[in-house]
Amino acid sequence: MRRRIGILTGGGDCPGLNAAIRAVVKHATISHGFEVVGICDAFKGLYECDTMPLPVRAVRGLLDRGGTILGSSNRANPFAYPIVDANNEETVVDVSEKCAENYRDLGIEGLIVVGGDGTQAIAHQMMALGVEVVGIPKTIDNDLEATEYTIGYQTAVNIAVDAIDRLHSTAESHDRIMICEVMGRYAGWIAMNAGMSAGAEAILIPEVDYDVEKVIATLRRRHKSDTSFSIVVVAEGAKPRGGEFSTRQQADATQQARLGGAGDHLARLIEAQTPFDVRTTVLGHVQRGGTPSAFDRLLATRFGVAAVELLAAGQYGRVAAYRGGEIVDVAMEQAVAKLKRVRPDGPLVTAAQALGIELGF
Ligand code: F6P
Repeated sequence: MRRRIGILTGGGDCPGLNAAIRAVVKHATISHGFEVVGICDAFKGLYECDTMPLPVRAVRGLLDRGGTILGSSNRANPFAYPIVDANNEETVVDVSEKCAENYRDLGIEGLIVVGGDGTQAIAHQMMALGVEVVGIPKTIDNDLEATEYTIGYQTAVNIAVDAIDRLHSTAESHDRIMICEVMGRYAGWIAMNAGMSAGAEAILIPEVDYDVEKVIATLRRRHKSDTSFSIVVVAEGAKPRGGEFSTRQQADATQQARLGGAGDHLARLIEAQTPFDVRTTVLGHVQRGGTPSAFDRLLATRFGVAAVELLAAGQYGRVAAYRGGEIVDVAMEQAVAKLKRVRPDGPLVTAAQALGIELGF
């Protein structure tokens, strides 16, 4: 009988997930003779036994396709699962045992979990219930300590750079301060890399609370010279000294807080103290959509191959990682132990400071 393995994509989607699915299916089927089952909508599909067969023909043409053909969810934690009744009342229950039972009933020996820190942490917990998992790291936030790059991050930076380049010309035409709010949750990787690549005058990141007086002083200086416009890149998780995170929705038992509004908040602070004309652009989910970059396609493909190899060798509880150009694997508990964040004393910040970019600290 052919060995059957499963794959799911969890958390927020990103470009490159389909490339990873494709690589897993091709390598598992062609090299190992495994049968691959797709679990739909992350762990929700495992709870509801919602699956799809994944023969090689199902993954043709997927390399450049954004999103995930399996669907995803960031509210499907089997240990804190939201169930909505007929009256639209939501209760949070533990369905992890049921998920483990379904895993066994589906005849799966090994599940590849493509996800960020939250999804990998759930996968690690599921191992205690007998679910044999191997992880592939993805998130546009690039905040997993285990790996230098996660699937989707590089594409998100490219999208942000393209958008900021476009803001430049309109900022210049109207002598405006253009604030661009980018995603990244509590890590400033997208903000730093996109801001530096697109020549922003100021970049504000979650790792350090910014001093708004410093930011305003820099903008005033610049506007007194021969330049009358500025580009400010703000991470959604950035906040002023003594201030709060800008959130659209608070965290609850089933999901993290939804960040958003940091750009508008900064705009109000600048407008309150200066005569400048300020506009805010929130890039939002545009950063997660569309075609993956060549780097992300290749990264996803290499991760997919590595994950299948780990499963074939019975090396469960490992996550594929990218280090120094090589694909390695690390223990899942290590991969989710700590968030990787921009170091305020690190080389990226030092380079930004060398260019005179205002970081607000
Ligand atoms: O983790 C990826 C991410 O895009 C974050 O950058 C952002 O804060 C969050 O997901 C948005 O989540 P949602 O898709 O639930 O709005």
